[in-house]
Amino acid sequence: MPAEIAGDASVVLGIESSCDDTAAAVIRDGKLLSTVISSQGVHGEFGGVVPELASREHQRLIVPIVNSALEESGVRRQDVTAVAVTYGPGLAGSLLVGLSFAKAFAFGLGVPLIGVNHLEGHIYSPFLGDGGPQFPFLCLVVSGGHTQVVYVDGGFEHRVMGSTRDDAAGEAFDKIAKLLELGYPGGPAIDRLARHGDALFHDFPRSRPGGYHFSFSGLKTSVLYYLNQFSDEERSRLLEDHLADVCASFQQAIVDVLVDALERAIVETGVRHVAVVGGVSANSALRRDAKATADRLGVSLHIPEPIHCMDNAAMIAITGYFKHVAGIVSPLTLTAQPNLRLD
Ligand code: KG4
Ligand code: ZN
Repeated sequence: MPAEIAGDASVVLGIESSCDDTAAAVIRDGKLLSTVISSQGVHGEFGGVVPELASREHQRLIVPIVNSALEESGVRRQDVTAVAVTYGPGLAGSLLVGLSFAKAFAFGLGVPLIGVNHLEGHIYSPFLGDGGPQFPFLCLVVSGGHTQVVYVDGGFEHRVMGSTRDDAAGEAFDKIAKLLELGYPGGPAIDRLARHGDALFHDFPRSRPGGYHFSFSGLKTSVLYYLNQFSDEERSRLLEDHLADVCASFQQAIVDVLVDALERAIVETGVRHVAVVGGVSANSALRRDAKATADRLGVSLHIPEPIHCMDNAAMIAITGYFKHVAGIVSPLTLTAQPNLRLD
């Protein structure tokens, strides 16, 4: 935690509802008091998030989730000094539920509303642990919707150095998991299986479109082609005997391009502090390889605890806290911005 904000008295209620997680958290003086997440189970049978169902679930859950975050924190409603909320990017109907609730809550208490970009929330999630990176730091954002290398100087104006040309890393995990009938979201299932697999079993292509950009749609197609070269019977046998090996090989292809881009960005910018954030940063191979690279280059690496990698409101509350201390607040006319960008 930077010295200038340590010890500042504030109680921030954070709210997140951009996709299929309804979440609330309370942060007092930069310290996390409570974090409550309800991951909507209703989407599982559809193999992906159904927007209309998501917003209805948010409406059902937002009040009980905020109440339990306040209860767990021991903070009284009237002690909240600011309300931080995700206003984009995300699903319009989902964002609107959290944003409308946050506006009403802030207005009712007469405290500032602080709009937070969901990606900014991921970027500041390493500050939820002890310490956090020093500014400036390089951040690899890897989630279900985004894959970006970002230069973060602490001034809330971020420089996106590169991003994916097509699928996000998490999306690639989810699509391959669907192909392998492993359920949704697929990242955790592939990660679990890959731990017992041989990453050298099959050499899937590593696409490097130049600069710090990424492309994962070719990898997805190559897994499909790889599986389709077998007859139904052969494929069943392959997946029976080598599912873990296929998962490990596919996962390593993703991890290699992510860590390679991160390494090049570290060398080129000379930045000494690095963070990896977003749902895919929970991946054990990515954590292992990013650590090995950071150690080799002598830079400090910050990856949130797995519970803070996935969508949560603690990251929105901590970003709100940083903004609050910097005097950044939002008008009550703030609108949901489904396509909000970082730069
Ligand atoms: O950050 P996040 O919770 O939501 C977005 O902002 O998109 O990221 C969700 C993504 C999903 O695609 C999920 O499959 C992936 O993160 N994910 C993982 C792991 N845990 C979650 N991918 C690989 N390995 C994991 N352990
Ligand atoms: Zn996210």
